[in-house]
Amino acid sequence: MDIVKINNATKYYIKKKNKFYANNNISFNIKEGDIVGFLGKNGAGKTTLIKSICNLIKLDSGSICIKDKRIDKNPKVVHDNIGVVLEGARNLYNFLTVDYNLRYFSYLNKINDSQLESRIKKLLEMFELTQKRKEVVNNLSRGMQQKVAIIIAMLKDPDILILDEPTLGLDVVSKTKMKNLLKSLKDKYGKTIIISSHDLDVIENVCNKVVIFEKGKVIKYGSISELKLKESEDRYEIVLKSSEAVNLKDISFEKEEGVIKLETTNLEQIFNRVNTENVIKVEKKVKSLESYLV
Ligand SMILES: Nc1ncnc2c1ncn2[C@@H]1O[C@H](COP(=O)(O)OP(=O)(O)OP(=O)(O)O)[C@@H](O)[C@H]1O
Ligand SMILES: [Mg+2]
Repeated sequence: MDIVKINNATKYYIKKKNKFYANNNISFNIKEGDIVGFLGKNGAGKTTLIKSICNLIKLDSGSICIKDKRIDKNPKVVHDNIGVVLEGARNLYNFLTVDYNLRYFSYLNKINDSQLESRIKKLLEMFELTQKRKEVVNNLSRGMQQKVAIIIAMLKDPDILILDEPTLGLDVVSKTKMKNLLKSLKDKYGKTIIISSHDLDVIENVCNKVVIFEKGKVIKYGSISELKLKESEDRYEIVLKSSEAVNLKDISFEKEEGVIKLETTNLEQIFNRVNTENVIKVEKKVKSLESYLV
């Protein structure tokens, strides 16, 4: 089932009297149980879409549905189904203890069931924070604070968990710990998760799908295995003297001053048809997640 449906989502801001599209006609669906990584350079539009999915900002056109309900018409569907940690935002009350934060946010979220205490205990254990329960948040490291924010997002046991840059600003050790935690979330949590990150290791090891953003648009959406397959595919760029064009009529190539350029996965086919003396350059092209970001 498609738990999130994004249909032509468009959001613009006015900059110097012109429309600047932070999200430009974005459409894709997220299946229940998928762990989707949002990847893209700074300013590509990831956080804007996350805010729109959470109904924190209003789309200028298009629509977003959670469990087939339009979020603008049914805001409760967001509250009932989504737990989110926004990037760099102050998600906690720094002068309250971890315990107080957890209880206060449970109260705000109207979580008052008999399971609450056991859920808190389980999450603190999972995030290795049991010993810090009575500690004031301000005295915790940044990584620990980030973990508390994630626990709060998970407290209501939402079907969709959204983490915007969970490893941002963490030192190497905390980053590694957070990565391992996210990996274990994948197995232990078993729900739909959206993670925006610049950390390719997180995306590759935690997510099964990836959405690549560029200048407000989605330029790629697919499974990590598909992208990895492309990565391992041998693709070559060949430059030949333009006199070879006559031998390659049925193959698409680009013409530049005195030369032709083409890409192929079948080197042999090309070499069988041309005079190898006219080959100027053969270069293997490597496709990787990173290559979508440069
Ligand atoms: N409130 C706003 N007013 C004006 N422009 C905005 C606003 N929010 C975002 N933008 C612009 O929209 C674009 C997309 O921003 P967004 O925060 O979605 O990017 P991002 O992909 O999350 O980037 P990063 O990787 O740096 O977090 C940016 O160019 C940003 O300047
Ligand atoms: Mg962002």
